[in-house]
Amino acid sequence: MNIKKWLQSNTASLKGKTVVITGSTGGLGKEICKILGFLGADLILVDRNFKKSSAHRQEIISRFAKIKVTLLTADMEDMDSVKAVCEKLKNIKFDYLILNAGAYSIPRKKSSFGYDNVFQINFVSQYYIARTLAPLIKCRDGKIITVGSIAHNYSIIDKNDIDFSTRKKSNLVYGNSKRYLMCAMYKLCKDTGVEISVVHPGITFTNITAHYPPIVFAVIKHPMKVIFMPARKACLSVIKGVFDSCEKYEWIGPRIFDVWGLPKKSMLKTVSEEEYSFISSVCDNIFKPIAH
Ligand SMILES: NC(=O)c1ccc[n+]([C@@H]2O[C@H](COP(=O)([O-])OP(=O)(O)OC[C@H]3O[C@@H](n4cnc5c(N)ncnc54)[C@H](OP(=O)(O)O)[C@@H]3O)[C@@H](O)[C@H]2O)c1
Repeated sequence: MNIKKWLQSNTASLKGKTVVITGSTGGLGKEICKILGFLGADLILVDRNFKKSSAHRQEIISRFAKIKVTLLTADMEDMDSVKAVCEKLKNIKFDYLILNAGAYSIPRKKSSFGYDNVFQINFVSQYYIARTLAPLIKCRDGKIITVGSIAHNYSIIDKNDIDFSTRKKSNLVYGNSKRYLMCAMYKLCKDTGVEISVVHPGITFTNITAHYPPIVFAVIKHPMKVIFMPARKACLSVIKGVFDSCEKYEWIGPRIFDVWGLPKKSMLKTVSEEEYSFISSVCDNIFKPIAH
């Protein structure tokens, strides 16, 4: 089935709906916005780089003249900036929140809030936004769509090193953060009743690997483009997440080995109940000091 046919049978008009998306300027973000624009949704783009975001807004409105596109700025590495954007979003009416911003192999440092920056970007900030806005989204019968990753499978949680700060491998911090984020969403759904979907795109070539050492990047760039799905197809899991919801441990991603093919809902295999409970307690411990 091609993308057009898939969209015809798996989506509906989003005219009159507003979607907030973080990380809209990235490889997947742009493709997600193209489809949302095609479906008639108004968009609120939450990006860190205003110039890039404005150029992206122009691209969208030149294709879809009838939709409204609003820009908000937030750096997921900076908690104050994340808190400020949440305050703005509390006063804007929207239906869907897509937590798509993410960073993988970037140089590691402590965030302004004291966490490993990769953990901060991929988990702490995304979770803070979701938990802060969940009651509003629930009231509006909306949904939170969270972009996870198959990398959650390959990163084991260490109770004595929540944010991975004493361990070296930066690529594993990413998987660790996604593991927290995905489990945190199931708990948020249970606690607040907000509808959620946990989605992942498989593997696709975007800027997410741009921070690899230049030689590694040059070597993997072309094979990645050939071997894996293009972002315009990989993003369909996110689109399915807008129209479908997930229960505990369900996630939506490519059907073949979680990497290739059209999206399908399946069950997470590697998270135990004990780990889920642990992550739930960590979520409270992280959220409360930021919120007060
Ligand atoms: N590509 C894959 O194979 C793959 C696989 C599994 C999951 N994912 C997930 O898919 C999502 C989108 O990634 P992508 O592949 O589209 O990567 P990408 O092209 O690098 O896009 C990432 C987006 O996140 C934004 N971002 C990064 N750091 C940020 C920060 N500190 N504050 C605010 N925004 C920030 C980027 O902004 P700038 O444009 O300003 O850099 C960009 O808009 C991520 O959550 C990623 O973890 C991707």
